[in-house]
Amino acid sequence: MGRSIVTHIDDARWVRGGPEGQGDYPDGGGQLIGDLVEGPWIHVNWLPAGLVAPPHHHDHDEVMVILQGGFTMGERECGPGTVVYIESGTSYGFTVSKEGVRFLNVRQGLATIHMHGETTNPYEASHTGIDGASAVGPNDAAEEMSVFDAIHALRAVRCYDDRDIAPADLDRILRSATMACSSGNTQPWEFVVVRDAEVKRRIKEQMVDAFSTIDAERAQKPEALIDASGRPVTGHASVESLDRVPVIVVVCWNPDRGIRMKNEYAENPDGTLRETRSIPGGRGSSLFPACQNLMLAAQALGISSLFTTFFGLRDKEIKEILGIPPRVFMECAVYLGYSSETLGRPRRKPIEEVVHADRFGNAYQPVTRLSG
Ligand SMILES: Cc1cc2nc3c(=O)[nH]c(=O)nc-3n(C[C@H](O)[C@H](O)[C@H](O)COP(=O)(O)O)c2cc1C
Repeated sequence: MGRSIVTHIDDARWVRGGPEGQGDYPDGGGQLIGDLVEGPWIHVNWLPAGLVAPPHHHDHDEVMVILQGGFTMGERECGPGTVVYIESGTSYGFTVSKEGVRFLNVRQGLATIHMHGETTNPYEASHTGIDGASAVGPNDAAEEMSVFDAIHALRAVRCYDDRDIAPADLDRILRSATMACSSGNTQPWEFVVVRDAEVKRRIKEQMVDAFSTIDAERAQKPEALIDASGRPVTGHASVESLDRVPVIVVVCWNPDRGIRMKNEYAENPDGTLRETRSIPGGRGSSLFPACQNLMLAAQALGISSLFTTFFGLRDKEIKEILGIPPRVFMECAVYLGYSSETLGRPRRKPIEEVVHADRFGNAYQPVTRLSG
C-alpha cells in the first residue's frame, strides 16, 4: 500500500504567503503538495527579488528544481532547470536574483531549520520561512495548525527563549484545557498559572535541591542518559529552565469536585488527604486530558510545552509556595513558552507495534504507511 498525489499547482494549498505572492513575488510564499507532517514536503516556493537566505542547514536531504527566475548559491548562478541537491546537515544560503525565483522543493518528513551565526532569518519578520518551517514547524506557527499537525509536531521542550506569552493566547490555551473530558464531567481541575519571577525562583530552589539527591542515587552517569535526539534526560534541563520559561501551569485536583464515592479519602492531621481504597480512574484520569488539550492548543499557537510531574518531589514545599490548600492535590505542571531548541518530529513506535485487532496479540494492519 502507498500514497499517490496527483494535483494541479493551482489547487495546491498555500502554507505561506498567499495567492498575492504569485507573479511578481511581493512577499514570497509556498504551495504545499505533500503532507506537512508525514512528508514528503513537496513545495512550490515563490521568493522575492534580492532576498538573502542566510546560511542554515536541515536535518533531512532536499532537492530544489528552479522553475522560473533564479538565485546565486555560493559561486553558482542557478536558473530555470537548475537542480540543487543538498544533503542533510550541509550548510547553505542563497541570494535571489532580480527576477525573484520560483522553485520546486522536495524534502523528507517535517522540515527543520538551523540558522547559523548572527544573521537573522529575513522571513521571520514576515512570518514566513525559507523552508516553511516557521509556518508549520514544531515551535513556530505563523498560522494556526490543524489538530493533526499539532499532534504530530508536539515535543517536550526544555529550553526556552525570552519571549513572553500574550495574555490573549494564554486565555485561549487555558480555555482549551477546560474543554477536556473528566469523570462524570466533574471538572476537578484547578490551574495555578505561575508567571511571577520570584515564585519561579523559589520553586527552582526546591527542585535544584531535590535533584542533587536524585543524581547521587542514579545508577547511570548523567552522560549515559541521552534520548534519541541527543538530549539529556536527567531532568536537569527542565530544572534549569524553570525560571526562564514564561509560564508554568500547575495542575491540581480539587477533592471537593473530584471525589465520586463515599469515604474515598480520609483526612490526615496536617489537612492533606489520603486514599482509603483504590478506585479505577484516579485523579490523573480527569486531569491529563486537560493537560493534553492545553499543550495542543499551545502548539497550534506556536507555543511549546513540557509536561512534568517532578514538582511532586517537593510536594509540601511547592504547595506552600503557591498557597495550594493541603487537601488539594498538586498532580503535575506544564511549562509554556517559545522554544530555543530545534527538534524534529517526535519518535514514536509505529502503530503496527502497539495496536491489536480485536484480540490482544492479533496484528493490526494499517492501510496507510508513514513515509520519510
Ligand atoms: C507522566 C510524565 C512525566 C514527565 N515528567 C517529566 C519531568 O519531570 N521532567 C521532564 O523534563 N520531562 C518530563 N516529561 C516529559 C517526557 O520526558 C517527554 O514527554 C517524553 O520524553 C517525550 O518527549 P518528546 O515528545 O519530545 O519525544 C514527562 C512526561 C510525562 C508523560
